[in-house]
Amino acid sequence: MSAVSFQSVSKTFPTPKGPFQALADVSLDIAEGEFFGLLGPNGAGKTTLISILAGLARPSQGRVTVLGHDVQADFAAARRLLGVVPQELVFDPFFNVRETLRLQSGYFGVKNNDAWIDELLENLGLADKASANMRQLSGGMKRRVLVAQALVHKPPIIVLDEPTAGVDVELRQTLWQFVARLNKQGHTVLLTTHYLEEAEALCTRIAMLKRGQVVALASTSELLQSASTNVLRFKSDDALPEPLAQQARVTGRVVQLPAQNVQEIEQHLATLRAAGVRVEDVEIRKADLEDVFLNVMAGVQEVQA
Ligand SMILES: Nc1ncnc2c1ncn2[C@@H]1O[C@H](COP(=O)(O)OP(=O)(O)OP(=O)(O)O)[C@@H](O)[C@H]1O
Ligand SMILES: [Mg+2]
Repeated sequence: MSAVSFQSVSKTFPTPKGPFQALADVSLDIAEGEFFGLLGPNGAGKTTLISILAGLARPSQGRVTVLGHDVQADFAAARRLLGVVPQELVFDPFFNVRETLRLQSGYFGVKNNDAWIDELLENLGLADKASANMRQLSGGMKRRVLVAQALVHKPPIIVLDEPTAGVDVELRQTLWQFVARLNKQGHTVLLTTHYLEEAEALCTRIAMLKRGQVVALASTSELLQSASTNVLRFKSDDALPEPLAQQARVTGRVVQLPAQNVQEIEQHLATLRAAGVRVEDVEIRKADLEDVFLNVMAGVQEVQA
């Protein structure tokens, strides 16, 4: 049985300018125990899909099940199987951290949960903030509480919508170790993130959404193999000659050019030299998930396994 099954899910929002289709016929099956990544640019429909999964929004068409439970017809059962970390920071300002977690335990009918709550606080670097009021926490700390809240009833399926947005490097690492450990213990994880190196390191399978449609669905290694194999990276202040300018990914002074093999790298360098482009800090690296992502979004690469 699938942990999560999205079956031909579409969602149309009414807007002043007329109906807007946020999701178009999305079908995905996430197996039990998978660490699944849902990627896509801003507005692709990731949060909409998660809201439908969590029973917070209704699909216009299609059906979603959680371990066989329909998220609409069988809402309570489906919801209990999920631990959802929402993208938006929402919390009750009148409670402290421990009270917030106890309240959430109560909501799911879990009693005497303090040992697990302590473990969560410890693992998420919140132990010294247990009695701090939610209002007194920094943005990153509030996000940590959201993560703890989602895990308080030890759900078999953990859904994380941008859990590391605004979270510092150290906690990102602790958080991922913790989530990876839960995954090893059998919890299914569905993650959305804009940190593609995190997705590459953690996810075994990935779906990419673009304007509400699945445009790539494959294992992480299949996705990486599908990319051009190398990237020539350098810094330059000069304008690139035309054939290269089109293929290049430029971030400030950093230029990255895809290349299949050594010959192509040599060719790129020769073209740059001939055009009088001065380059610094030249390096060659393996293509990564970000390269694949950009190719898929640009429509030059399609991956469906
Ligand atoms: N309640 C709503 N009414 C109208 N349009 C909406 C509503 N909720 C979302 N949308 C639109 O649906 C599209 C998908 O939004 P969604 O929040 O799912 O994107 P996302 O992939 O999560 O993006 P991000 O990476 O920025 O979080 C966007 O164009 C958004 O403006
Ligand atoms: Mg979102």
